[in-house]
Amino acid sequence: MQPAAILVVDDENLIRWSLTTRLSEEGYKVLEAATAAAALERQREGVDLVLLDYRLPDGDGLEVLQRIKQADPDTLVILLTGHASVDTAVEAMKRGAYHYANKPFNLDEIVLLVEKALETTRLRREVRALRATQALPYGIDRIVGESEPMVRVRSLLLKIASSPASTVLLTGESGTGKDLAAKVVHYASARAAKPFMNITCSALPEALLESELFGHERGAFTGADKQKRGLLESADGGSVFLDEIGEMAPSLQAKLLRFLEEKSFKRVGGAVDVKVDVRVIAATNRTLEDEVRARRFREDLFYRLNVLPITLPPLRERAGDIPALSNFYLDAFNREFKKRVTGITPDAMARLQAYRWPGNVRELRNAVERAMLLAEDDVLGPDQFPLPSSSPNPLTEGVRLPKEGINLEELERSLVVQALEQSGWNQTKAASLLGLNRDQIRYRIEKFKLERA
Ligand SMILES: Nc1ncnc2c1ncn2[C@@H]1O[C@H](COP(=O)(O)OP(=O)(O)OP(=O)(O)O)[C@@H](O)[C@H]1O
Ligand SMILES: [Mg+2]
Repeated sequence: MQPAAILVVDDENLIRWSLTTRLSEEGYKVLEAATAAAALERQREGVDLVLLDYRLPDGDGLEVLQRIKQADPDTLVILLTGHASVDTAVEAMKRGAYHYANKPFNLDEIVLLVEKALETTRLRREVRALRATQALPYGIDRIVGESEPMVRVRSLLLKIASSPASTVLLTGESGTGKDLAAKVVHYASARAAKPFMNITCSALPEALLESELFGHERGAFTGADKQKRGLLESADGGSVFLDEIGEMAPSLQAKLLRFLEEKSFKRVGGAVDVKVDVRVIAATNRTLEDEVRARRFREDLFYRLNVLPITLPPLRERAGDIPALSNFYLDAFNREFKKRVTGITPDAMARLQAYRWPGNVRELRNAVERAMLLAEDDVLGPDQFPLPSSSPNPLTEGVRLPKEGINLEELERSLVVQALEQSGWNQTKAASLLGLNRDQIRYRIEKFKLERA
């Protein structure tokens, strides 16, 4: 790592010399200037920190401070003042000085001050770089797929991202992209520069989840020897992703609901209301309506979360997205594995599109990854995709269109009726027997004007 560069600005040779010598000994790269003009000149060489005398022959330090800050707001300035004047110090801080030191100063103190200041810049830069690298992979284009439902999902996600508060509920089978969608919403929103925190509600026992989320006061329970901020506090200004919300214990559901309505909460064992501004993004691969009916999920919380529901469709309902997705992962793994696979053969692609993908996009990604690891040719053929019995449902293979033809509408109606009867008119179950979602089966119930006998 390069040493930090410090610019020492003072017209008194002795002071400049003592600072320069000491800071060089500490391992810093030191530049010097005796005038305001020279200081501004040397700043252009790129410095991390400036030790700036208040009185310079050709100008006053406050002016130089302002110009340094204008040129590069990240440069830290410590003002060296001749006589302790509170006014000057206050003015310096107002204009963006990191700190000030009164002359005559103690060199050890200056060194400590410099260390602290540089640590601050380093952290600030690190956070910024990290956020930049984190934000980029979660642009809206990261969600691949031009099928009609995916186009709709993308546009909804962007709309939600630009609306300031609103809670979001993401539903969809495992591997359909709920995590990804949550990050996309966060990073496309005005909250992008603030934290994105996530927690999986099923991963922790209830009491632990509560204190992780809401924090706790000192002495709240045995072992709570310090006050601790929860995730909601740490994410202030940003977003909190509550994954597998369907598994949250009922008492916590109540506390979460209160938070969503009042935007404030009490830490565990605490009496004061803590106010924070976070967007809650919840996800589940359960059907929350069923959980509500089974009294495992609070109805009021469900309605509060369900203001903006987004359902990520299973991959088998948008097989048209499979080529784009496989190619997306092909490119990604080419980069990662330093390979040069150029494509997937048409018969391999046909196989990928015929498969039902119970693990959805995650399973597809894994299949492409595996194929690429084993690939010896520069195209991937069907042999590279040993999918569990490519024909998803042996029955459909067996169904042969009779020569005289059939009435497809009637067949569809009959299958829907059978599914409803088999499932005792549980629409969710009936839908899953037919590989449909609830909206799709409802649509058919209306279309065929079906009624329970
Ligand atoms: N539309 C998509 N475009 C590109 N990649 C996707 C898409 N959907 C999902 N993925 C990728 O598939 C993998 C699984 O997605 P993700 O983890 O978001 O699913 P999930 O719905 O959260 O699943 P689970 O319910 O198991 O937590 C991730 O690597 C994700 O980046
Ligand atoms: Mg997930």
